[in-house]
Amino acid sequence: MFDVVYFSSISENTKRFVEKFGLKTVRIPIKTDEAANFVYEAENVLVVPTYGSGEEKTTVPKQVIKFLNNPANRKHVKAVIATGNTNFGSSFGLAGDMVAQKLGVPLIYKAEILGTPDDIETIKERLEQLWLTR
Ligand SMILES: Cc1cc2nc3c(=O)[nH]c(=O)nc-3n(C[C@H](O)[C@H](O)[C@H](O)COP(=O)(O)O)c2cc1C
Repeated sequence: MFDVVYFSSISENTKRFVEKFGLKTVRIPIKTDEAANFVYEAENVLVVPTYGSGEEKTTVPKQVIKFLNNPANRKHVKAVIATGNTNFGSSFGLAGDMVAQKLGVPLIYKAEILGTPDDIETIKERLEQLWLTR
């Protein structure tokens, strides 16, 4: 199965979200220079929280951008999941749309904050499906 590569800020919502997947999780460092040097070369799904409040330039956390600047990292991302908060309206989970588009991989889910049990169930099904058809 895919590993889960994720970014989570000090509020750690995304950390708590991905821990419910029951898969191996790997966290992109919070320090930007460390994120830039972080390499992960196993097939994975990238989970990215949305920031920026609708401001496109800061929508994708800079640590995630630095991580994805490395082609070795980009190559192993097979799908994207976004987290966010629907209070942000049309920018809900926007980081997921942006990253998936950039990498040319599917955005398989947008979840709010920690995700509901139904969210987790659906995500597990979609990951399973993607894994079997990869
Ligand atoms: C300053 C700030 C801006 C945010 N902007 C957005 C946004 O534009 N769209 C969205 O869906 N969520 C937005 N969020 C919500 C976060 O994506 C959400 O709280 C997420 O769970 C944070 O994950 P983390 O605690 O792992 O960093 C924002 C949160 C903060 C604090």
